[in-house]
Amino acid sequence: MFHKKLAPFPKDFLWGAASAAYQVEGAWNQDGKGPSVWDVFSKIEGKTFEGTNGDVAVDHYNRYQEDVRLMAEMGLKAYRFSIAWSRILPQGEGKVNEQGVQFYEKLVDELLAHGIEPVVTLYHWDLPLYLQETYGGWESRRVIAAFKDYCRILYQRLGKKVRYWVTMNEQNVFTAMGYRWELHPPNVSDLKRMFQANHHINLAQAEAILLFKELVPTGLIGPSFGYGPVYPASANPADVLAAENGEAFNNGWWLDVYCKGQYPKVIWQYLAEQGLTPVVEKGDLELLAAAKPDFLGVNYYHGGTVAQNEYEQQAASPQREKTFSGIDPYHIQPADEQQASPEKALFTNVENPYLTKTAWNWEIDPVGFRIAMRRLQDKYNLPLFITENGLGAIDVLTEDGTIEDDERIAYLQTHILEIQKAISDGVEIIGYCTWSFTDLLSWLNGYKKRYGLVYVNRNEASELDLRRIPKKSYYWYQRVIAANGELP
Ligand code: BG6
Repeated sequence: MFHKKLAPFPKDFLWGAASAAYQVEGAWNQDGKGPSVWDVFSKIEGKTFEGTNGDVAVDHYNRYQEDVRLMAEMGLKAYRFSIAWSRILPQGEGKVNEQGVQFYEKLVDELLAHGIEPVVTLYHWDLPLYLQETYGGWESRRVIAAFKDYCRILYQRLGKKVRYWVTMNEQNVFTAMGYRWELHPPNVSDLKRMFQANHHINLAQAEAILLFKELVPTGLIGPSFGYGPVYPASANPADVLAAENGEAFNNGWWLDVYCKGQYPKVIWQYLAEQGLTPVVEKGDLELLAAAKPDFLGVNYYHGGTVAQNEYEQQAASPQREKTFSGIDPYHIQPADEQQASPEKALFTNVENPYLTKTAWNWEIDPVGFRIAMRRLQDKYNLPLFITENGLGAIDVLTEDGTIEDDERIAYLQTHILEIQKAISDGVEIIGYCTWSFTDLLSWLNGYKKRYGLVYVNRNEASELDLRRIPKKSYYWYQRVIAANGELP
C-alpha cells in the first residue's frame, strides 16, 4: 500500500502563539488610552458571559515581561498580538498618545531580545469609541482615512523591527457579529449596513497594504481570515452546488477581494438582486485591485456542511438534522434565522454526522484543516500563515497545582499533523500560531472557555492572583518546537 512520505517542517517555520489586545491587556484606561467600542459594549447588561469585560483581562499590559519570559522558556519562535488603536490614538485620530506607542515598542523589544518574532495585528475589533460615536464607525469613509493614519504611525515606529503584519482579524466574523447578530459592537442588525461597512473595511485593508509597501518594503503583510471549508451534505449535485454557494458566500466574498482584488461575480449578482450590495464610489475597485497581500493569514477552527436549500429540496432528506440553535461566529445559523437570511436560496446548514464537537458545540475537524490549506493554496496561491487554531475548553487547576489538558494536546497534535501533511502536499506555510498563549477573555464566554497553553488564575467573579501556571500542553508544545514539529 502506498503511504505518502511526510516532509519535514521548514527550518525557519514560525512556531507561535497568539492573543488580542482587548482579550489580554486590561489597563483599559491606563497611560492615556482612550476607550474603545468594546469598553462600552461589554458593559451593556446581558451582552457578555456573566458580565465579563476586559478592564483587567489577564493584565498583560503590566505583566508583559513575565509573559514574554514564559514564551522564551517555551522556545516560542513567534508571538502574534494586536495593537489597541485607542492606546496609540485615544480618539482614533489626531493626537498621538506617546505612552501607548512606547508600550508596544517595549513589548517588541522584549520579544526580539528573547529571539521571538513579533507578528502585529493592526485591527482585532477594538475600534476607538470616538470614531464610532462621532462618525458612525466603519459605516463612514472617514474611518478609512483614520485607519490609514494609524497604520502610518505604526509602520514608522515599528516597521524596522517588526517583519510580519496582519491587517484585519476575521473581517467575516466581526462584521456579521456586529451588524447582523447584535452580538458585538456596534450592536446592529441590518444587512444593508453590514455590507456597506464591510466594503469600507475592504478599502481600509487595501489602503493599509499599499501604505505598507511604501513604508516597510522589507516586511510582509496580509489579512487573517476566519476560514472554514464548506462540505456538501451528499453527492447529490444539488448539495454540491449548495456547497459551492457556501464557499463563495462564506469565504470567497472576502478572500477574492483580498487576494484577487475583486468581488466574486456570482455573490455580487445575488446580493444585487436583493438590494444588498454596497455603494461603490469612483476609484474603489481600482484600490481593491491594486492591494495585494504577501501572505494569507488563516484562522482555522472548523468548517460547515450544507445541503440544497430547503425550499427547493422539500422531501429530499427529512431525517437530516439542522444545525444546533446557537449563534456560532463561524457562519452556522440556527434554522429559523435562515428564513430571514440572504443566503436562504443558496444553501441550508446541516449537521455533519462524521464529526465530534467541543463542549461549545464547535466541530473538531483536523482533516478539514488540510482541506482548508489545500483549497486556499489552489485558489489564491499565496503563502499561508496559520494565525489562529486551538481548543476552547474548561480547564481545571488541580490541588497539586497542575492543569492536565490532554484534550487540548490531542487537538493540537492532530491539527499540527495535518499541517505537515499539507506541507508534504506542496502547500507553502510560513508558521502556526496556537490560539492562545495565556488564557484570556473570550469575547462572549468569559474565562470559562479557556484556550491558553498557560493558565491564568482568575475567573468571572474575581481576578484572584492572576498567577501564570504553564499547563501540560505548554510542556508538550515546548517539545514540539524543540523537535521542529517531529511530534513526540
Ligand atoms: C477568533 C478570534 O474568532 O476566535 C479570537 O479571532 C477568539 O479573538 C477566538 O477569541 C475564539 O473565540 P471564542 O468565542 O471561542 O472565544
